[in-house]
Amino acid sequence: MKRISILLSIILAFQLSLKAQIYKDKKAPIESRIKDLVSKMNLDEKILQLNQYTAGLNTNVNNIGEATKSIPDGIGSLIYFSADPVWRNEIQKKAMEESRLGIPILFGFDVIHGFRTVYPISLAQACSWDPALVTQAAAIAAKEAKLSGVDWTFSPMIDVARDPRWGRVAEGYGEDPYTNAMFGVATVKGYQGKNLSDPNSIAACLKHFVAYGASEGGRDYRYSDVSMQSLWETYLPPYEACVKAGAATVMSSFNDISGVPGSANPYTLTEILKKRWKHDGFVVSDWDAIAQLINQGVAADRKEAGYKAFMAGVEMDMKDNIYFENFKALIAEKKIPMSKIDDAVSRILRVKFRLGLFDQPYTTVVDESARYLQSESKTIAQKLAAESMVLLKNESKTLPLTASARQIALIGPMAADKSNLLGAWSFNGREYDVESLSEGITKEFGTTAKIDVAKGCDFDGNDESGFSEAISLAKKSDVILVCLGEKKGWSGENASRSTIALPAIQEKFVQELKKTGKPIVLILSNGRPLELVRLEPLADAIIEIWQPGIAGGSALAGILSGRINPSGKLSITFPLTTGQIPTYYNMRQSARPSGNQGDYQDISTQPLYWFGHGLSYTTFDYGIPKLSATKIKKTDKLSVEVEVSNTGNVAGTETVLWYISDPACSISRPMKELKYFDKKELAPGAKTIFKFEIDPNRDLSYVDSNGKRFLESGDYFVIVNNQKMKFEIID
Ligand code: NOJ
Repeated sequence: MKRISILLSIILAFQLSLKAQIYKDKKAPIESRIKDLVSKMNLDEKILQLNQYTAGLNTNVNNIGEATKSIPDGIGSLIYFSADPVWRNEIQKKAMEESRLGIPILFGFDVIHGFRTVYPISLAQACSWDPALVTQAAAIAAKEAKLSGVDWTFSPMIDVARDPRWGRVAEGYGEDPYTNAMFGVATVKGYQGKNLSDPNSIAACLKHFVAYGASEGGRDYRYSDVSMQSLWETYLPPYEACVKAGAATVMSSFNDISGVPGSANPYTLTEILKKRWKHDGFVVSDWDAIAQLINQGVAADRKEAGYKAFMAGVEMDMKDNIYFENFKALIAEKKIPMSKIDDAVSRILRVKFRLGLFDQPYTTVVDESARYLQSESKTIAQKLAAESMVLLKNESKTLPLTASARQIALIGPMAADKSNLLGAWSFNGREYDVESLSEGITKEFGTTAKIDVAKGCDFDGNDESGFSEAISLAKKSDVILVCLGEKKGWSGENASRSTIALPAIQEKFVQELKKTGKPIVLILSNGRPLELVRLEPLADAIIEIWQPGIAGGSALAGILSGRINPSGKLSITFPLTTGQIPTYYNMRQSARPSGNQGDYQDISTQPLYWFGHGLSYTTFDYGIPKLSATKIKKTDKLSVEVEVSNTGNVAGTETVLWYISDPACSISRPMKELKYFDKKELAPGAKTIFKFEIDPNRDLSYVDSNGKRFLESGDYFVIVNNQKMKFEIID
């Protein structure tokens, strides 16, 4: 009898202990695990969860901050400036085994366009119009990052950007809200996989919430004066799409949004993100963005800055230590309610539980050779580089090069360069992984042509001493391939330029080369649209290769030889001059559109290359679009089809961009808005149908300045390849 009762009490104790440890029970629902854990946490433990410190070497000069500290084992997150899973596991072990409750640390890092396998910059990726390929690239980036110890990336950046002086245009997907939404969603899907807890998934972070792309003068950390209409119509839609796609976290922006900074903005962070869109992950501030509320003039001191950021909806303090320093006092003073702390902690824990960190807190350690640059990763890098390059000009079929190009002069500062092809935010990229343009071209043409390589001049400065060597090589060549562009540090954070022209030395160099009378192919590698008004007339052909990552050399070489038929189209407009900024395709109509009314007196108002521009080695013929009806009810669907034929001699891939316009509405609407795109390969002589299913509520409606959606009856146009087809929506 006695033995039975002892047994019973052991079973009861065991059951109780299990119940008491719900948060450790893998099978329990995540919400129960969160509730249980929060109920067990003391205030110090809760506050630590709301902070992110740094770990490892901080090599970002813009993130001047604290040196790596001794890491508290209860810290919520670390910015992990390392790729050493063994070291990461040691830190994690301390958190799991030495902290009272064993809460895993979330390791975050900027994985922007690849980890070690560096892909083209995001702006270039969008020129591929291939979201499925971008998903694959992001999935590889996630896998490489995860195996290096990263759980969470600060990406994608989905800030619509219409001022190419801004260095960060390189990091997003261009000037159009729909394009940013589509590529943002594709990237989130790649990082997060089917399930955040999958072994190769990492959490995404949408940034920078919001309207950072509207920063005044294209300068960083500045004021964004956006109307409520543009906020809803232009800057918020990519975020809404990515939140719906399940993005785990969001980063609040540096910029002041019309008087209320992005990191202390209750309207954007709480009303829109949490209440209307029901985002249940968390918001992290940008680096130092909370302390900067003092500079921005909305907080008198660090304590008030922390209070404002937190109450507005920023759950995690990136690196500032402000939450850690001030929250005990703010809670004691009853300024911050405990319920809000618990909600914030729950949001952070939710992401950790969803990532499976409680159940598998450690990184699987594999050898670097099994971690990085696998052949599948390199294939995707090559494909994406090739698809994102844009043939801007091709006079008299200069390209592809023919067999008569037996002597090639490959010159310019980018010709043999490796490092700059990686682009900004490529911390784990290695110069020696990169195939330079000259390596790619030599491999492609080495047996059929003689290739002479010379630098000629640097990216900037005024040293012309290399001109003569390059010019003499050019003189004896059949074609001159001039590789120009921007250094990688000219784009990215805090890297604005007052002019988008290339430095004068590069322009002068091409002017000198032109005097040789040889055909000139301009190859441009840069992180923003360039002012090409002086260079374009000197070139017979121009290829925009952006910052293509590790595989740019072979991708470019394939385009030059014709092995690859270029198919990229611009995701951002190239203004004719810097003075034309802002110039973007989805502008609103002028009140006087005809004649030269409202034009500049000194230059054309047309940009050099519009959004969507991109040439091919074949020609595509568009038939007349056919609508399934010309009058439909708001609740009906309408389909529109266009037949596209490849009328040239080589296979080619065409992306069809479908736009909508509403010529008369209660509020003025952009002249046209991209609503759908589709890409198909066509053999020479082949025809295919491209189809767009118009859903009036999704594609024809507009948001007002409060975010309310309206669909009006009346006339609309669907526009494809400049053909406008009218239809009517009836009540
Ligand atoms: C500042 C940048 O604005 C942001 O994009 C980045 O994620 C953080 N620093 C962390 O490095």
